[in-house]
Amino acid sequence: MPARKPIVVVTRKLPDLIETRMRELFDAKLNLEDRPLTPAELAEAVAGAEVLAPTVTDEIDAAVIEAAGPNLKLIANFGAGVDHIDVAAAAARGVTVTNTPGVLTEDTADMTMALILATARRIVEGANVVQAGGFSGWSPTWMMGRRISGKRLGIIGMGRIGQAVAKRAKAFGMQVHYHNRKPVPQAIADALDATYWDSLDQMLARMDVISVNSPHTPATFHLLSARRLKLLQPHAILVNTARGGIIDESALADLLARGAIGGAGLDVYENEPTINPKLLKLPNVVLLPHLGSATVEARTEMGEKVIINIKTFMDGHKPPDRVLPERI
Ligand code: 8YV
Repeated sequence: MPARKPIVVVTRKLPDLIETRMRELFDAKLNLEDRPLTPAELAEAVAGAEVLAPTVTDEIDAAVIEAAGPNLKLIANFGAGVDHIDVAAAAARGVTVTNTPGVLTEDTADMTMALILATARRIVEGANVVQAGGFSGWSPTWMMGRRISGKRLGIIGMGRIGQAVAKRAKAFGMQVHYHNRKPVPQAIADALDATYWDSLDQMLARMDVISVNSPHTPATFHLLSARRLKLLQPHAILVNTARGGIIDESALADLLARGAIGGAGLDVYENEPTINPKLLKLPNVVLLPHLGSATVEARTEMGEKVIINIKTFMDGHKPPDRVLPERI
């Protein structure tokens, strides 16, 4: 008799290829309409599941884990960031958590560079003028942006994505600086010509561009607080492709509106999909709808990682991408 397939609850529509494979391997409960689930719907959907495959749009708190009941053994997240999952509550109930690191590194780093360029060179503003029929001819002083070559980029969080951003920035002629819990190995710092700043405050005050690339944890919530944002130079550009909660969004909007910061390129927000209305009115911002990993390749490889994590775990082995609770 074939072995019984595990019940896997998938909260959002995933690429077709991934859903087909999941149907073959698991008793997959899919969300074909891709409607985000309310907390009540999520609690109902997860009841009796052995595996939950959520995304960043689901709040997997202790109540949801509780609602799943004793059958739940694995939360296989579709995504690298796990700030929407109460990993400690899962661990306390003996539930393993996995994520999908690595496969979205290059695409997220590309998006970071795209935001740096778009903000510094006013790409969206210019494109909007043309599309609105407002291009009446070249002018020597119209729509001038800022050169990025030769400028100082300060990367906050020098993990996989931070390093991929550094590699790109170096190729664009930028000087790479970074703040991290600890310095990266010397060989990596040498290859990237990267300067370590132990003091985030001091780095912020001296950079032309800041890129946020750290995970969102209790320790990084509002790391860029109102006080720290005020340390930025008036021409500085702030780019965030990590998580909105790392920046005090309201303070950022106020400083941008007052011209105390040059511009911002944001792909993520504190209360997604809600965006601080003040930001929406500003000319010196480029705002994207959380597109960092939105390539066919990344989303497919993320799905493949979810499948491998589930399969390995169900076969009785340690899944490759286990996430352990933060040690406080
Ligand atoms: C994903 C992300 O699209 O992986 C992450 O942490 O932020 C995104 O690129 C999202 O998390 C999918 O759940």
